[in-house]
Amino acid sequence: MPRPYPCFGTRLWAVVGAVAVATVWSSPAQADLPRALHDLTHVTPSAPLRATLGTVAGSSTVELRARSRRCAKATPVTLLISVDARRIARVKLHSANWRNVSVPQKLAAGGHTLLVGVAGRPACSRATVDELRLGGRADRPADAPAPPGTPLGPKRRIPIGAAVNWDISTRLDRAEDQAFLGHFQGLTPENAMKMTYVEPRRNEFDWSETDPLVTYAMDQHRTVRGHTLIWHKQLPGWLTQRRWTREEMTAVMKEWISGIAGRYKGRITDWDVLNELFDEHGAWRTNSPWYDALGPDLADMALRTASEVDPGARLFINDFDIELPGPKQDAVYNLARDLKARGVPLDGIGIQAHWSGESLPPEPTLLATMNRFASLGLRVELTELDITTDRFADALQRQADAYAMAGRVCQSVASCDRITVWGISDKDSWRGGVNRPLLFDDKFNAKPAYGALIGALAAG
Ligand code: XIL
Repeated sequence: MPRPYPCFGTRLWAVVGAVAVATVWSSPAQADLPRALHDLTHVTPSAPLRATLGTVAGSSTVELRARSRRCAKATPVTLLISVDARRIARVKLHSANWRNVSVPQKLAAGGHTLLVGVAGRPACSRATVDELRLGGRADRPADAPAPPGTPLGPKRRIPIGAAVNWDISTRLDRAEDQAFLGHFQGLTPENAMKMTYVEPRRNEFDWSETDPLVTYAMDQHRTVRGHTLIWHKQLPGWLTQRRWTREEMTAVMKEWISGIAGRYKGRITDWDVLNELFDEHGAWRTNSPWYDALGPDLADMALRTASEVDPGARLFINDFDIELPGPKQDAVYNLARDLKARGVPLDGIGIQAHWSGESLPPEPTLLATMNRFASLGLRVELTELDITTDRFADALQRQADAYAMAGRVCQSVASCDRITVWGISDKDSWRGGVNRPLLFDDKFNAKPAYGALIGALAAG
């Protein structure tokens, strides 16, 4: 039986044998939204994509994008699209570039079967289909989170947080303290909660930096994002310098997560539980002792353990380079969807957002990405935002525009309820002061970027 993947009542892809099955539905009843299925699906002559188009009335448009995976350069691949066994389109895919396909259809109310196949010999006729969408109006169950794109009404007040790298017991920089207290509502320890510092020897915890930091945040009524539980970097030598069996590593993980998440239970609102799981091709990072011993199960284990230890904390997957569509974004999306479908506790996706002028995501793309994650019923936050500048005269203004863009996108995604910048002033940024990536200059003066971000985030 196909396993349903819930998403606003929609069932996303489930692969049954070689055939991908999906349900896409819409109706004029409620919100004016198309439904989309975002998963990449490979289609061959013997393994078509089969989808159910649910209650549809009136005009609709069947939309998808496809590209060929042909093996013989000369022959184009022919995509065949049928509804209820009636051919509605034949599309020749001449290249490996994505092609958008849009077929207007008059569909009566009720269920319809959509088949997307390819003509030809199995060996040489293969295509990849993505973003299957039914244009028109779509309904959603009353209890579902607001779907992507829902108008939000008055602008919400969205807090901003900052990463701090203080040893609070010794630091003397009052200017930094004032900048933090004057402008930020949330605090992320930039390094202090990483395993190498907190558990330098197995089961021996050093709270000397983290305790004062959390106490400071509580005293000042700031929220704390815990960062980070499972990462392949900044690990203690005792963990990395040998190999572990599955049983041993399970115990190590339990000790670590129970130790730190238990100590700050109730005081940390959000945990970056899983940090940077995938490489740029969307494959699991194998250069991690966690992965080496536990494989992909590490995700379930870490999330379940964190949830048992601190049931009140929101649990995040956090990663970088997931703003643009591609294999890495798909890997995070697919993992999150799978975890949700299996009832593993997961509350949000953190987009780190370490940007430069060149790597800045286009506004519509970032919006689509955040909506894509939000469509799983998850929060979406920018968790480590910084944007480097060049030395051209208008660099600070362009940076301000980029920060404003981030704020605008967050304001228009109902599930985005915080932006965290990775540091306060340019003098302390991990990306180097010369790149001036943050909201305050090295004298703690607010830069144009600060006003721009606040303006975009301010409640209306
Ligand atoms: C960085 C810190 O900012 C540096 O001070 C430290 O030397 C290395 O780690 N992604 C993450 C963060 O999840 O933990 C990293 O922080 C930056 C990239």
